[in-house]
Amino acid sequence: MNTPRYFALIPAAGVGTRLGATIPKQYMQLAGQPMLAHVLTTFAAASLISHVFVVVSADDGYIADLMAAAPHLQGRVTVLFHGGASRQESVLNGLQAIRQQVDEEDWILVHDAARPGLTQSLIQHLITTLGGDLVGGLLALPVVDTLKRGDQNARVAQTVERAALWAAQTPQMFRYSLLTRALILADAVTDEAGAVELLGLQPRLVEGSPRNFKVTLPHDVALAEMFLKE
Ligand code: CTP
Ligand code: MG
Repeated sequence: MNTPRYFALIPAAGVGTRLGATIPKQYMQLAGQPMLAHVLTTFAAASLISHVFVVVSADDGYIADLMAAAPHLQGRVTVLFHGGASRQESVLNGLQAIRQQVDEEDWILVHDAARPGLTQSLIQHLITTLGGDLVGGLLALPVVDTLKRGDQNARVAQTVERAALWAAQTPQMFRYSLLTRALILADAVTDEAGAVELLGLQPRLVEGSPRNFKVTLPHDVALAEMFLKE
């Protein structure tokens, strides 16, 4: 059997409702480039990554300009116009579209277009930690704040034990066949690990970084730019 390879799959078919910009958030300019361009450039430059796939919506009107302005992505990035109604659907559509180009045992690193702070060293850390793993796993951060469960009136119902809690990030890295099977069977999960957990498996938590946060709300934009200009 061939040595497993590593592929990146970037779901980028959302609209960015919570950010509320006039264009989908993955195309917003951050530190001089569209958010998605930062992510594609990072993966395209990663020597451990064989190829990068990005999933956009069928009627995407921005990706062509982004690719045309980025000659360094040519040959390293393939655009798939297969976005779905949810992130889970976009990822699954992408996996099914690349079936002929990957082996069952190849690793797929799924990464949000909305996390432009990802670095080469985080990719390397994830791959070297999980390369021999039977299940796979994800970048995540141990929770540091005290957590409260609120009721409908924004009153504290309960303080939640924090000790074992992690906040999930991406990339989330699983083998092609396992990930595809998990996402077909799962009903409305918000990340790949959630789907794999439903199969009774335990994805490994690998410590990520605060700079790899997901740009979600308007106030996140300035913080993302600060990290990107560092
Ligand atoms: N995504 C996708 N297809 C969808 C929805 C989301 O590919 N139907 C992608 C987004 O483009 C993003 C990632 O999944 O890269 C994480 O999703 P999120 O941060 O929630 O982005 P949006 O769904 O665009 O934002 P919002 O939920 O605020 O509308
Ligand atoms: Mg969303």
